[in-house]
Amino acid sequence: MIKHIKLNQDNLAFAIEVQNEIFPYEDATKEYTDMVNGQSDANFFLVYNGDDCIGVSGLKHYGIDVEDGFLGWFGILPKYRRLGLGSEALRLLDETARDLGFRRMRVIFNTEKGFEGAKTFLKVNGYTAEPYQCPKDRISLSGNYAILSRSLYNEPIEPWNNRNLHLTEANR
Ligand SMILES: CC(C)(COP(=O)(O)OP(=O)(O)OC[C@H]1O[C@@H](n2cnc3c(N)ncnc32)[C@H](O)[C@@H]1OP(=O)(O)O)[C@@H](O)C(=O)NCCC(=O)NCCS
Repeated sequence: MIKHIKLNQDNLAFAIEVQNEIFPYEDATKEYTDMVNGQSDANFFLVYNGDDCIGVSGLKHYGIDVEDGFLGWFGILPKYRRLGLGSEALRLLDETARDLGFRRMRVIFNTEKGFEGAKTFLKVNGYTAEPYQCPKDRISLSGNYAILSRSLYNEPIEPWNNRNLHLTEANR
C-alpha cells in the first residue's frame, strides 16, 4: 500500500538524501527547506510502500494559476523501479492534487537532459506532450523543453499554449 508523508523538520534531512540519490545532479534542498519553513506553498512528500521509503513526490504551481499542478521532484529509488510503484505514486499524487483544487497535472520536461524513461512513463500514465517555446521565456527558446499534461477529471486536455513559466537557470 502506497502512502506519502509531507516533508517536515523531522524528515527533511532524510528526504534530501533520497532526492539526491534519485537526482544525483540536481539538489532540491532549497525548495524543500523553503516549504518546511512555510516560505512556499509547494507540497513535497516522501513516498512509502509499507515501511519502505521508495521515493519522493511533489506538487507545485506557477504564479496565480491554481488549476494547473506541476509535478515537482517526482522519482522512485532505483531498486524499486519497474514494479508499477511509480505509477501508483503518481495516482496517489493525483488524489492530493484534486483535493488541493487542481484540474490538470503538468510536467516540464527537458528533452535534452531529462531521463528518456520518464517521458515513456508519463505517456503510459496518460500524459500528452507539446513543445514549450515562449518568446518571453529566454531559457525555453533553446527548444529543449516540452510540457506534458493530463486532466485530473477525464476532460479533454487544454494545452499549456506556451504561457510564460519564467524558467530559471535551475531548469537548464
Ligand atoms: C520515471 C520513474 C518515476 C518510473 O518509476 P517506476 O516505478 O519504475 O515506474 P513504473 O514501474 O510504474 O512504470 C510504468 C511503465 O512506465 C514505463 N517505464 C517506466 N520506466 C521506464 C524506462 N526506464 N524506460 C522505458 N519505459 C519505462 C513502462 O511502460 C512501465 O511499464 P512496464 O514496467 O510494465 O514496462 C523512475 O524511473 C524514476 O524515478 N526516474 C528518475 C527520476 C525521474 O526521471 N523523474 C521524473 C519523472 S516524471
